Amino acid sequence: MFSRYKKQPEAQPVQAEVKATTPTSAAPQAPTANAMIRKPVAKKAAEPTASDRERKRKERLSEIKIELHRELLENLNLAALENANESDLRSEISAIASEVLETKNIVLNRDDRFQLNKELYDEVTGLGPLETLLQDDTVNDILVNGPQQIFVERAGKLEISDITFKDEKHLMRIIDKIVSAVGRRVDESNPYVDARLADGSRFNAMVPPIAVDGSLVSIRKFKKDKLGIDDLVNFGAFTEEMAAYLQAAVSTRLNVIVSGGTGSGKTTTLNALSSFIDDAERILTIEDTAELQLQQTHVGRMESRPPNVEGKGEVSPRDCLKNALRMRPDRIIVGETRGAEVIDMLQAMNTGHDGSMTTIHANSARDGISRLENMIAMAGIEMPIKAVRSQISSAVNLIVQASRLQDGSRRMTSITEITGMEGDVISMQEIFRFQRVGLTPDNKIIGHFTATGVRSHYSERFRLWGFDLPAAIYEPTTV
Ligand SMILES: Nc1ncnc2c1ncn2[C@@H]1O[C@H](COP(=O)(O)OP(=O)(O)OP(=O)(O)O)[C@@H](O)[C@H]1O
Ligand SMILES: [Mg+2]
Repeated sequence: MFSRYKKQPEAQPVQAEVKATTPTSAAPQAPTANAMIRKPVAKKAAEPTASDRERKRKERLSEIKIELHRELLENLNLAALENANESDLRSEISAIASEVLETKNIVLNRDDRFQLNKELYDEVTGLGPLETLLQDDTVNDILVNGPQQIFVERAGKLEISDITFKDEKHLMRIIDKIVSAVGRRVDESNPYVDARLADGSRFNAMVPPIAVDGSLVSIRKFKKDKLGIDDLVNFGAFTEEMAAYLQAAVSTRLNVIVSGGTGSGKTTTLNALSSFIDDAERILTIEDTAELQLQQTHVGRMESRPPNVEGKGEVSPRDCLKNALRMRPDRIIVGETRGAEVIDMLQAMNTGHDGSMTTIHANSARDGISRLENMIAMAGIEMPIKAVRSQISSAVNLIVQASRLQDGSRRMTSITEITGMEGDVISMQEIFRFQRVGLTPDNKIIGHFTATGVRSHYSERFRLWGFDLPAAIYEPTTV
């Protein structure tokens, strides 16, 4: 299947220079009063020799791999590769690898050989070093800061992985592979790009010179089974009572905004909330990168599109939204409102598409309102602030705050209702909140969810629609 030939052995590439760590040995000082009340800062332990050996072994493997990869690319018949089945390809790669290893007099143990063949296969058919992380279900996010540093998020915590790229060229090759597959380009004149991987994961890359120390890549992995309401309750993201309240809110068609910071769980919350929508309704979703997975039968999905390299062909979220209004939706879900589409979103919420939902980047309900006001101002709408606020207060019923806390846990830290206007100010009332009380010695947050004691402004509406929530759910939790 492949045309092969033997190459003249080349000089081994020079080993990457290992940076000497600068000693941080300032003369020990007597602790000052301030230093004593400070928490001790964890110091990086000196590397044991075993891990030094392990690192050397990895470096050696990586050298061999790059060498072999080059040979493979030169020797493989790429056209035939497309039709090759996995096991044929694996055995062919392993055969070529053994041949090259033999000519070079390199002896590897079984594990290393297995690892090498796997990496070569990933390199040829997939996304190289990223492939292992993409296949690891415990990894949520992958963050690459240049070729030598890959962070991953596991169970809410960012940790550095031991996977690296050989060098910037290697990283760039993988980035190119991803973006060219979706018909985009990334280079000096066009240094950042958004794309979606074949498995649905969200991908963003920024390359030098804008990325100063090597390309920056962020991947939000696509979860096949999105977390549902029950999962989130089980994880302690919110309580059963809050879930009952949210069910009433979504079912009775309140307009909901999920607010939160980056990676706080906004999309996950939005997706889970959508499960309360009746199956008979027609839902249209608009996203930059399609992430939502609605369970209903009648769903129309749209994905906006940035301009191409010549600056043409853009379909903005606002264009999608305007068009969606002509498509007779019962509800509209906008993945994230961040620009001029806010005007149409508020209008839709006000005029017959109640029950619509979106997310915004904000740190609290009040902050969320300011964000909406700013977005309206930035869209060039000249309206007195009171008119803007009145538009917002009549459009938005509920703001759900999602937060990623310092221990990595994600929680719904507040549910706030918008109840109208008092003078120039939008009035709100918080119904549920996460009450933090402290921190365990291993930095886990101690706290509990509680109702604030305020009865919902919409309780009569809930009752009329058949969601007669017991008064007890509005009572504060006593701990
Ligand atoms: N309560 C939770 N418990 C555990 N993991 C969660 C929880 N909520 C969300 N996640 C996970 O956290 C990651 C980020 O979630 P999500 O995509 O919903 O965040 P986001 O706020 O929409 O992020 P972005 O700002 O990047 O759009 C996902 O991998 C998701 O599966
Ligand atoms: Mg999101």
